[in-house]
Amino acid sequence: MTNSALHMSNVRKVYRMADTEVVALDHAELTVASDEIVALVGPSGSGKTTLCSIAGGILSTTEGSVTVGDEEITAYSDKQLTVFRQNQVGFVFQSVNLVPFLTARENLLVVDELGRREGKPARQRADRLLEELGLTDRSKNLPSQLSGGQKQRVAIGRALMNEPKLVLFDEPTSALDTELGSQVMELIRSEMKSRGTAAIVVTHDERITAYCDRTVHIIDGVLAA
Ligand SMILES: Nc1ncnc2c1ncn2[C@@H]1O[C@H](COP(=O)(O)OP(=O)(O)O)[C@@H](O)[C@H]1O
Ligand SMILES: [Mg+2]
Repeated sequence: MTNSALHMSNVRKVYRMADTEVVALDHAELTVASDEIVALVGPSGSGKTTLCSIAGGILSTTEGSVTVGDEEITAYSDKQLTVFRQNQVGFVFQSVNLVPFLTARENLLVVDELGRREGKPARQRADRLLEELGLTDRSKNLPSQLSGGQKQRVAIGRALMNEPKLVLFDEPTSALDTELGSQVMELIRSEMKSRGTAAIVVTHDERITAYCDRTVHIIDGVLAA
C-alpha cells in the first residue's frame, strides 16, 4: 500500500452520548492514490467531516484501520498523532480559521513554528506558496483585510506548508460564490497536481466534482462509488 496516500479499511465510527449512539461511518473502505483528488459528496450529517477527521488523525476510529502513506495510524497515541498531523496531512476547512492577529505570511509560517522550525527554508516555501496563490502583494495583510477568496487561498497555502502526503478539504468553497469557488478549485487542482499530492475534497456541489479525478458518495455513513 505504499503507493496510496490513504487506505481506510472497514472503518466504523460511533459517537456515544448519554443515551444515544450515532453511527457516523460504517464499514468504510476507501483508498486514495498518491496523486489522486477524490471528491466526497453527500448530504449534511452523512459523515463527511467525520471521515476527514479520521483520515487526518484528528479523530480515532471505533473499528477498522487507517493508513496514510506508509504509516498505519490506527493505534497511534495522542503524541504520535500530533507529530503525524504536523508532518503528513494538511487541512482546509469551510470556515477559514486563520489566526486573526497574524499576517497572511505569518499564518503560513505558524505551521513551521508548530512543527519543524526550519527557519529560512520555511520562509522561502511560504513566499513561493504565496506567489503561486497570487497573494504576494497581500502577504503582509491581516485576515480581516482579505476577501473571502483570498483568505481561503491563505488557508490552502498553510495546508501545503508541511508538504503533506494528503490534504483534506472540508467544503472549501461553500462560503464562496460560484465564480470564486471555481477559481479556488482550479487553484486546488493545480497545486495538488503540480506537487503530486493527494486530496479529498468534501462538497455538496456536484459542479466541484469536475475538478476532481473521482467522486465517492456518502449517505448515512456508508460510502458508494
Ligand atoms: N462530536 C460528535 N458527537 C456526536 N455526534 C456527532 C459528533 N460529530 C458528528 N456527529 C454526528 O455524526 C453524524 C455525521 O456527522 P458529520 O461527520 O459532521 O457529517 P457531515 O460532515 O457530512 O455533515 C451526524 O449525525 C452528526 O450529528
Ligand atoms: Mg461536515
